[in-house]
Amino acid sequence: MSNSTWRAPFIVIEGLDRSGKTTQTANLYSRLQDEGIQTSLHKFPDRTTAIGQMINAYLCSTSELDDRAVHLLFSANRWELASTIEKTVSARTPVICDRYAFSGIAFSAAKVHSGNGQPLLPFEWCRAPDVGLPAPDLVLFFDITPEQAKARGGYGDERYEKEEMQVRVREMYRRIGEEMGAGDAPGKTKWVVIDAGREREVVQEEVWNLVSPLVKRGIEGPLRRLWV
Ligand code: TMP
Repeated sequence: MSNSTWRAPFIVIEGLDRSGKTTQTANLYSRLQDEGIQTSLHKFPDRTTAIGQMINAYLCSTSELDDRAVHLLFSANRWELASTIEKTVSARTPVICDRYAFSGIAFSAAKVHSGNGQPLLPFEWCRAPDVGLPAPDLVLFFDITPEQAKARGGYGDERYEKEEMQVRVREMYRRIGEEMGAGDAPGKTKWVVIDAGREREVVQEEVWNLVSPLVKRGIEGPLRRLWV
């Protein structure tokens, strides 16, 4: 990163439950540290804030919330950190987020009415509160089939960790990815689908090969805004 118009990248890791996303994120983070690259790592939902605690109670089913209300809380939980993300990349420290706005849309838009199976919340409605958030330079979407997830021991106990839900979430991520496009144009978010069903080391290498050039080279120009 040579002059003042350069900044560090903002990278998001998205994925289905049991895709190995969290392990791979931790691995990437420690590899960057090992190379002497200080990185700022965030996880959404950030369960440590007051809003995050309300989300946590909902996910653990110790509280009930209206579907729209919890959707807006997830988004507010990102807005809480938006200016920190901007400042961090401007200060040339790369930011890596485990989940972001794409999870927000995919999980909420995948909800259906229990009676008739019709969508509960329109896709566009789900996207609206996140419009204008800092846009990542790169999104790695960890994709895994429901069969592979099952072979890995199935889903956990939190709300949404059920096969029918995960199938619909996967479909929503596919739609989001399609709408983002391949993103190879300069200044556009690049959306990459990672086949997370492969051996851990193979996935790890692919992630490193995508992230390390970006981190080492930096990005020219300011952070953009999502969907504006
Ligand atoms: P986690 O298991 O990665 O901590 O994520 C918690 C759950 O919350 C996971 O099932 C995905 C879901 N989620 C949303 O529904 N909306 C969001 O905006 C985010 C970030 C996560």
